[in-house]
Amino acid sequence: MCGIVGYVGAQAAAPLLLEGLLKLEYRGYDSAGIAVMNDGQLLVSKVKGRIANLCEKTEGGRQVPGTIGIGHTRWATHGAPTDVNAHPHLSNDGRFAVVHNGIIENYLALREELTAKGFHFESDTDTEVIVHLLERYYAGDVKAAVIKTVSRLQGSYALGVVCADAPNTVFAAREASPLIIGLGSGEQYFASDVTALVPYTRSVLYLDDGEFAALTANGVTVFNGAGQTVDKPLQHIAWDIQAAEKDGFDHFMLKEIFEQPAAVRATIAPRMRGRAICLDDVRADDLKNIRRIVITACGSAYYAGCAGKYAIEALCRLPVQVELASELRYSDPLMDEQTLLIVLSQSGETADTIAAMKECKARGAKTLSIVNVVGSTVATLADHVLYTHAGPEIAVATTKGYTTQLAVLYLFALYMAQVQGTVSGEEFNRLFGELEQLPHRVQNALDMNPGTERLARKYGGASSVFFIGRNTDYAVALEGALKLKEISYIHAEGYAAGELKHGTIALIDEHQPVIALCCNGAVADKTVSNAVEVKARGAEVLAVTFKGDTTLAAVADDMLFVPHMEPLFAPIAEIVPLQLFAYYVARENGCDIDKPKNLAKSVTVE
Ligand code: F6R
Repeated sequence: MCGIVGYVGAQAAAPLLLEGLLKLEYRGYDSAGIAVMNDGQLLVSKVKGRIANLCEKTEGGRQVPGTIGIGHTRWATHGAPTDVNAHPHLSNDGRFAVVHNGIIENYLALREELTAKGFHFESDTDTEVIVHLLERYYAGDVKAAVIKTVSRLQGSYALGVVCADAPNTVFAAREASPLIIGLGSGEQYFASDVTALVPYTRSVLYLDDGEFAALTANGVTVFNGAGQTVDKPLQHIAWDIQAAEKDGFDHFMLKEIFEQPAAVRATIAPRMRGRAICLDDVRADDLKNIRRIVITACGSAYYAGCAGKYAIEALCRLPVQVELASELRYSDPLMDEQTLLIVLSQSGETADTIAAMKECKARGAKTLSIVNVVGSTVATLADHVLYTHAGPEIAVATTKGYTTQLAVLYLFALYMAQVQGTVSGEEFNRLFGELEQLPHRVQNALDMNPGTERLARKYGGASSVFFIGRNTDYAVALEGALKLKEISYIHAEGYAAGELKHGTIALIDEHQPVIALCCNGAVADKTVSNAVEVKARGAEVLAVTFKGDTTLAAVADDMLFVPHMEPLFAPIAEIVPLQLFAYYVARENGCDIDKPKNLAKSVTVE
């Protein structure tokens, strides 16, 4: 979704802003723009469509000289993706330019108020009220105008502001939308995402909600909403630039699929010491009184939660409820201090997830976040954080984000089982050994399916595909179907295998391939029977099963394999051939794999 960048220093700002925006391209957008200050004048350039168009229009930034500026990629919410609606927006007097991520919920009332006062609106955006408020409240002090302006805004924002009267300062403000300041030597940056900062600096500070910052070439001052200075700790970003490059792979998604063994290893290894699980600052005392767990997330992270539920319930014998964050937030949720809310998020900035988390926290739940982006909102809101160490995930469709979430959920399940006393010492040791093997299992799953590309060619022409399974296999079916549909645009549905006969089997015929997931020994036979049923109705069956399994060979037309492993943890390997399958189908069909249509990497609006 929208991205913002800002720069102040001695270099030409526009090329740096364009470069920063290109780093944010993966988040999804439909227009882009920059504003640069030159000799006390604001120069704005913006276009509908790709950043490449903006580069062309500005001749790589050369047409927009100046050493201080702001930039934006817009993902349309209020108003169509047009040049006019693209950011930055200018005040009527041309003194202020603003870029904005988020949504101003009271923009209609503000627009009416400002129109009545004679302000003229150019765009349909909610953002434009901000720049007119700045003009309205400006009386020679930009900082005071920023304070007054943000006090009028309801909703979420990460803002970048430049003012012609403050030619050496760029302002950044944050409320419920990420904003990170990067500190350089004689130059400073800000961005909504660390990937835009790592090429220039590793020293960052994270703004908290309600704070804003004034950046000059010589330094950064952070203020609270009342305008008092705030001391912020400097943090170091460990991600390297290489991690955000394609590294010879055709797509980030493929690269990230192959990074999974290393990502899972980086996530679990530091937490498995000797024969003990150490969950960072989570202590046994924090979990002893927990009687119920609610997991909340969106999309693939929600499906990771669905798979994790089986492991936690089986090992800890505690009830686990998995809720879509977009539903939980409006469900008047039942929470108390004996309920642990586990929040899963790769980006840590998903609007629904944050809102559900706040709702549950306010009702007394203890919160544990499993999140990839350090310093993100989901991380900062939680009582405890367990980071997934997946590194930057650039492809819109998550892969290593999902598998590392599973890895942490499995670690948590076994740790919690020990705390609750629901696992014997012998069983703990056996499962600990299984967890240690997870990176190898994921690697095996990558290695043992060389035929996936051929299968993608065979099945890639289907207009609809069903993924069926039971228990953990069902959870993987949901994620497998999402992977296929979001990048290949083929309709796909993850379905509980036993439910087919209650209506949906009416859809099955020779045009409807079925992918049958059979890696959960306790119920695999049942899914095999369902596979036989769909085959009898003409469907081709592609089965996913443990390597060496022969029972399915007689039923299935084709097979994908997973290494033999503990079935509770099998989803982490079982998804791998399905990620590859979705990738190759999308490639076969000529789709824009890393940036599927209509999708954004970080869904920061409701
Ligand atoms: C699908 C995908 C999305 C995300 C969802 C939540 O491949 O990536 O479904 O899983 O938007 O995002 P995060 O994990 O950032 O909260």
